[in-house]
Amino acid sequence: MKRFKTITCWLLIAGLIPRAGAQTTQPINVTVNKVKLTVTIDAAGTPVYAVHYDQQPIIAPSRMGFSLTDDSTFYKDFELVNTSRRSVDESWQPVWGEVKTIRDRHEELTVALRQRKAPSRLLNIVFRVFEDGVGFRYEFPRQPNLKYFVVANELTQFRLTGDHKSFWIPGDYDTNEYIYTTSNLTGIDNAAMVRTSTDIAVRTVPDQYAVQTPLMLKSKEGVYINIHEAALSNYPAMQLHVDRANLTLSSSLVPDATGNKAYLHAPSHTPWRTVIVSNKATEVLASKMILNLNEPPAFTNTSWIKPMKFVGVWWEMQTGKATWNYCNYPDSTDAKGKLIPNNTHGANTANVKKYIDFAATHGIDAVLVEGWNTGWEDWFGNWKENVFSFTTPYPDYDVREITRYAASKGVSMIMHNETSGSATDYERQLDTAYRFMNLFGFPSVKTGYVGKIIPRGEHHDGQWMVYHYERVARKAADHQVSIDVHEPMRPTGQHRTWPNWMASEAGRGNEYNAFSIGSPPEHETILPFTRMMGGPMDFTPGIFKMKGYASYAPDRQMHSTLAKQLALYVTIYSPVQMAADLPENYEAKPDAFQFIKDVAVDWDDTKIIEAEPGDYITIARKAKGKADWYLGAITDENARTAVTPLDFLDKGQMYVAVIYGDAPDADWKNNPEAYRIERWLVNSSTVLKLKQAPGGGAAVQLKPATAAELKTLKKYVSK
Ligand code: NOJ
Ligand code: CA
Repeated sequence: MKRFKTITCWLLIAGLIPRAGAQTTQPINVTVNKVKLTVTIDAAGTPVYAVHYDQQPIIAPSRMGFSLTDDSTFYKDFELVNTSRRSVDESWQPVWGEVKTIRDRHEELTVALRQRKAPSRLLNIVFRVFEDGVGFRYEFPRQPNLKYFVVANELTQFRLTGDHKSFWIPGDYDTNEYIYTTSNLTGIDNAAMVRTSTDIAVRTVPDQYAVQTPLMLKSKEGVYINIHEAALSNYPAMQLHVDRANLTLSSSLVPDATGNKAYLHAPSHTPWRTVIVSNKATEVLASKMILNLNEPPAFTNTSWIKPMKFVGVWWEMQTGKATWNYCNYPDSTDAKGKLIPNNTHGANTANVKKYIDFAATHGIDAVLVEGWNTGWEDWFGNWKENVFSFTTPYPDYDVREITRYAASKGVSMIMHNETSGSATDYERQLDTAYRFMNLFGFPSVKTGYVGKIIPRGEHHDGQWMVYHYERVARKAADHQVSIDVHEPMRPTGQHRTWPNWMASEAGRGNEYNAFSIGSPPEHETILPFTRMMGGPMDFTPGIFKMKGYASYAPDRQMHSTLAKQLALYVTIYSPVQMAADLPENYEAKPDAFQFIKDVAVDWDDTKIIEAEPGDYITIARKAKGKADWYLGAITDENARTAVTPLDFLDKGQMYVAVIYGDAPDADWKNNPEAYRIERWLVNSSTVLKLKQAPGGGAAVQLKPATAAELKTLKKYVSK
């Protein structure tokens, strides 16, 4: 990462010491463009903040602070000791990303507080005001009377100023793989959330009125508000309890097994609490505030980290054509203790070679193989501590031969480490697991945490696991391995600090269309405003066989058209993108597969052209180091036409637009595979009209035209 400062200036402001006794301090204001932050210490000595956007109140005065296990009042009786301010305007270049250069312009305010009475503990609150919102975090300075301490509750509030439209999932401590419910704030109620057949048995939501972040809100006046956090590390994830009568959200941290929230020592700090605000939905998606609030990379040599596309021995298991397990349980061995093959095992050498050949033929970078290692015969639902070996292949998976074969074809292999939630066991095996990857040349790994966390009582989103995921990222970086984590806490921009943590699932991906009734067509128009505000998602797009793919549920179908599956490679940002379907389903439609072969996974620029959560998204991105652009447009269950000016193209250059669109008679329900590919000459004054079927989309490649194409192709005319 290159980092260059333009201006940084420090400015110290005299402390606004309140008079002894109960009086609110003078408000301290920090304004950047339309965003104004106001901070006061109220009469009770409680820190209070408020946010305005374009002079409208967005966050009404809201209290801040903690209840510690040894001091339930660590939110009041504070006096203001000092304030300091700083202006920052820097630019930095991510290792990979949606844009080449990111500008970080903000005004920082630090408010230093001290308890008025003994033990006179200290608490700092640091605010950063950006043109698209506000971030703040608590800092516990080094001090004599606060060393090791336990957070019983964080009391941060977000008092909203209207009964906003809300896109929410319930405050589950272990999973975010839910369908989003859209309701007003006052309608938030986990008893009435959208559930599917796969949700019910395994999921408990302790607070009927708690939701997860990122929480996307829209006011009646058309202001978009997104509440989340940045740089979550060694602290539990923040969920939000909704006080519907008072339109007030309050921080609800995911507890540990005993109900405590966080074990800290001073000096330390919490993650940033973030409020992104804009009157344009497109600006919410373009916001870089969360990334800017994260730290630069934790290591300097990042040259080995490579964005990539991959295929995998995967969908065939998801759809019941093959199994992860080589043998069946409990009768897995014969009298001599040899594993008895069930003959349905997907990860066998011959099958893996087919995927390697397919990847090599089509220029796909890598192959993921799941089910290669022992343990799958008894992995699910038994909550055993030692299930998987991360160094022992099943007998029919010849790791040496596969390594040799893949290398000879120039294809990378992706390791798979499913832990079935046994995180402690994974930590015991980490060293050998990553040495195994180095030995056999696996430059990346997909990890997984299906099921309850062992040790028992910890949660996927609690402090212990948050730190576990980070320990794994660090270990992987030490071994120059990149990771794609399934079932982690939802991201908070930590991929800036850990650029080898290239993607997470942490949401309801395409796989739900295999093993459950799936997700409604609007789902992918909500994900970028919610789950993806914190970072890339391994959504696994690209399903081409839209019906009849699940052998155990013949009526199952995708909730999208094929053209929309292509568009997702652009609208769902990730530097690692799977082509999730089976090779034969791509080979049956080579013209449509061409888009997946061509589309980039790393970008110099991104334009969010139009967006509305729950309804539609159109995004164009410029391929890294190239003149080509790729555009994706998606809609929900309603047909629509995306009117798309191509004014981002280089002036004076003619391009060929290859449009992969829905056929006129396509619709997600009855005719999802009907697509049409057109080629036109376009330039920066062209306005494309991309007609999308119900549940549909359009994917467009834009490439400088060759001399031959200039002669043979027609100019696009907007109709
Ligand atoms: C759930 C993951 O999301 C999926 O991709 C994986 O195949 C299974 N767990 C098994 O690890
Ligand atoms: Ca909708």
